[in-house]
Amino acid sequence: MVAMGSRNMVEVQNLVKRFGSLTAVDHVSFQIHEGEIFGILGPNGAGKTTIINMLFNLLMPTSGKIRVSGIDISEEPFRVKRLLGLMTQETIVEADLTARENLRLFCKLYEIPSQEIDKRVQQGLEDAGLVEFADQRAGTFSGGMQRRLGLVRALIQEPKILVLDEPTSGLDIQNRNTMHNRIRELNRKGATIILTTQYLEEADILCDRIAIIDHGKMVAIGTPLQIKETTGSEKVLELVVGAQDTQRAISMLKSKFGISSVLQGDMIVALLDRKHEREFTRISKMLDSSGITVVSRSMHPPTLNDVFVKLTGARMRDRTGAMRGGQASVRWK
Ligand SMILES: Nc1ncnc2c1ncn2[C@@H]1O[C@H](COP(=O)(O)OP(=O)(O)OP(=O)(O)O)[C@@H](O)[C@H]1O
Ligand SMILES: [Mg+2]
Repeated sequence: MVAMGSRNMVEVQNLVKRFGSLTAVDHVSFQIHEGEIFGILGPNGAGKTTIINMLFNLLMPTSGKIRVSGIDISEEPFRVKRLLGLMTQETIVEADLTARENLRLFCKLYEIPSQEIDKRVQQGLEDAGLVEFADQRAGTFSGGMQRRLGLVRALIQEPKILVLDEPTSGLDIQNRNTMHNRIRELNRKGATIILTTQYLEEADILCDRIAIIDHGKMVAIGTPLQIKETTGSEKVLELVVGAQDTQRAISMLKSKFGISSVLQGDMIVALLDRKHEREFTRISKMLDSSGITVVSRSMHPPTLNDVFVKLTGARMRDRTGAMRGGQASVRWK
C-alpha cells in the first residue's frame, strides 16, 4: 500500500438508484482517497454493481452526485472515462474474440494511438501470462484466465483508478491469492483501486478502507480495524452446546449475566463488553454446573463478520450463500 494522498479521487454524495419500487442504492455517500484500496463489501443484491455502474455512467442515478478527480461525471463523462478502468462482474471479456483481439478492441475504444497498440497488447498479454494463448478465443479460457485478461484489458489505457467488480468471486484459492497480489502490486505502482466483494476475509486483508453495504444502505465505513471497533465489544463469545440445551443456554446468559446472544447455525454468539469478558470463566462454570453439554467454547476479538451481524442482524454468509468454488485450472505464472 502506497502512502495515501489526501486528495479525493472519488466523491459520492447522497447517491440513490431506484428501479421501480426497489431502492437498490439508498443515499450512499463516501470518498475514496488517492492511493487507496477501497472495498465495497456486501452480500448478493446489496447494490454494489449498481454503484459501480453509476460510477461508470452506465446507469443514471435517480439522485445524488459523483465526482471523479474533482470532475462531475454528469457534466464531463468523457474526461472521467479516461481516468477509470473497469473489470465488470458479468461479461469479463468478449468470449468470441481472441485474447489479442480483446485487448486491441479496448485500445481502439480508448483511442490509443495506433503505433502504440501492438506494444500495449503484447505487454498486456505478458502481464496476464497469456502470450501462448493470445490467439485463442477468450470463451475457451478458464475462469482464472478470463479474469487475468479482464484485468489487463481494464488497465490498457493506464487508468488512474481501477475498478474491479467482484474480481475474485468464483476463483479458487490460488487464483484468488494471485489476484490479491496483482491488486497490491498495481496499488504500489500508484493506482487507486475500488473493488467490490462478498468476502469479509478478502476485504479485511486487502483493503485500506471498506464501506459495508446492505440492502442499498451503507451500514459502516472505515478501516477494517475501525469497523471492528464499532462493535463496541472487546470480545466475541462463541458457544456450541447440545442441541437440546441451546435455548436454555441463551436464556441463562440473559437472565444470569445480562448477555444478549444470537444463534448462528448451531453456534451461540454474543458480543461481550469488558465487564463480561472477565466473566468468561464464571459463564463457563455456570453452564457446566447447570448440566448443559458444552461442545465448544471460545472467545476471540471481533471479526468483520461479527460487525456485520451486529449492524444488520444477519450473518454475511446467510445472505450470500456458501463461497462459490472456482473451476479455474490454469495457474498464474
Ligand atoms: N436493471 C435493473 N432493474 C431492476 N432491478 C435491478 C437492476 N439492476 C439491479 N437490480 C436490483 O438491484 C439490487 C442491487 O443489485 P446489484 O446488482 O447492484 O447487487 P450486488 O451487490 O452487485 O449483488 P451481487 O453480489 O449479486 O453482484 C438487486 O435487488 C437487484 O435485483
Ligand atoms: Mg454485483
